[in-house]
Amino acid sequence: MKIIEAGDYQEMSRLAADYISGKVRSSEKINIGLATGGTPIGTYTKLIEDHQKNQTSYTNASTFNLDEYVGLSGDHPNSYRHYMNEKLFNHLDIKKSNTHIPRGDARDMLQECLDYEKKIAECGGIDLQILGIGSNGHIGFNEPGTSFNSNTHLVRLAPSTREANARYFESLEKVPTKAITMGISTIMKSKEILLLISGERKREAFARLMENEETENFPASILRNHPQVTIVADKAALGNNSWFL
Ligand code: PGA
Repeated sequence: MKIIEAGDYQEMSRLAADYISGKVRSSEKINIGLATGGTPIGTYTKLIEDHQKNQTSYTNASTFNLDEYVGLSGDHPNSYRHYMNEKLFNHLDIKKSNTHIPRGDARDMLQECLDYEKKIAECGGIDLQILGIGSNGHIGFNEPGTSFNSNTHLVRLAPSTREANARYFESLEKVPTKAITMGISTIMKSKEILLLISGERKREAFARLMENEETENFPASILRNHPQVTIVADKAALGNNSWFL
């Protein structure tokens, strides 16, 4: 795993955006895996700025988001489809039909899981997957205990995840209890992974990622096995640790 140190959140966001836009410019066609949550918002803002300033075009790009809440339709303000449209897609020249997010309101959720996995494979797989990390080590909504062999599947959200995400909802009770997420095997099939880690509240997760053996109790630990992982972490997440020096 390669680690890039950023001074702060803004720098982390700029470095990540430069990395992504560089790949988009140099690729004839690219499938990008995208994440939601607080961490990538700055990166998406920088991608929009770059698009406006340098005309980086996304007509060659398809995107696949990691996850979606079960029970929320795409126009629900807390859905990840809504988040992605607002924070990124509406501001780029990407074709909406090339942006893929699992449907949280599909009539048959099990079929939706199979269809999503198939769609990724049929499009040629993910070239660059953007990831965040949960304090409990989750990647996507793959909570501790998820099989490393999992494909896109339905999950019950851990209480700590619902609590962490309650800040976006009116109350904790309104946070959905289930989600659909790419599996760990789906994520590991990506050709390349860009993991963003920011803030003091992620320091422990970062330390566990670097120190722990691979264990399903800490899903992100599987990333140590992936041949192409770049971590962009800010100083607050790194703390006094400097594994890469
Ligand atoms: P955050 O979430 O970016 O909102 O901290 C990351 C995650 O839970 O994967």
